Amino acid sequence: MKIDVLSIFSDYLAPLELSLPGKARAKGLLDIAVHDLRAFTHDRHRTTDDTPYGGGAGMVMKPEPWGEAFAALEIAESDTIVFTTPSGDRFDQRKAEDLSARPRLVFACGRYEGIDQRVIEHAREIANVEEISLGDYVLNGGEVAALAIIEAVVRLIPGFMGNPESLVEESHSGDTAGLLEYPVYTKPPVWNGREVPAVLRSGDHGAIARWRHEQARRRTAERRPDLLAPSALADGTPIQRAV
Ligand code: ADE
Repeated sequence: MKIDVLSIFSDYLAPLELSLPGKARAKGLLDIAVHDLRAFTHDRHRTTDDTPYGGGAGMVMKPEPWGEAFAALEIAESDTIVFTTPSGDRFDQRKAEDLSARPRLVFACGRYEGIDQRVIEHAREIANVEEISLGDYVLNGGEVAALAIIEAVVRLIPGFMGNPESLVEESHSGDTAGLLEYPVYTKPPVWNGREVPAVLRSGDHGAIARWRHEQARRRTAERRPDLLAPSALADGTPIQRAV
């Protein structure tokens, strides 16, 4: 997979060198490049924003640098341009799976009040476009959202996980599909006077599976009752895992 990220704050994207995406790069599964949008400006101040037509607070990102950047990146019809924006579709595991199967993702990280709408229209003409929000809150810019999306996507690239079983378990764990994760424990068996539940040390796999399912169901009912709604589970696709 090839990933390009366009931003005026490329320093924000430094974590892409680390941990998970770094590992995928080392394995040759991923080619990531971060590009400074200001490289596609021509004035002395390297301007990327201007005041909004129609008035209002804040600044809007100018279209020209984006147009030039897309041209320089030689975007193909099969590529996907991802605009990270609080007004996009909410990101979830299903979207991560969808994106992980695409050959090339180009992240366009907006700042200020957003990007001139004509850039999104232009992008739709030259490639596939996704407008994605990380959640119902406003960040200062799209960089942190791009980082989160990239991390969720990269771990799903075929061949990335050392043990693909862990992905299968995570997303399809038969009994608890679509539910939040059950609580987990490791050694020692007693810590600070707190014991690991006896059932997990019983060796009775049936009882363990039943216990985990009940814990997952209870946790989901308490924290995310929306996930238990029949429509949410209609196609059996796991919706989200959380600890
Ligand atoms: N940019 C600003 N807020 C955002 C959000 N919630 N999701 C994605 N991009 C954003």
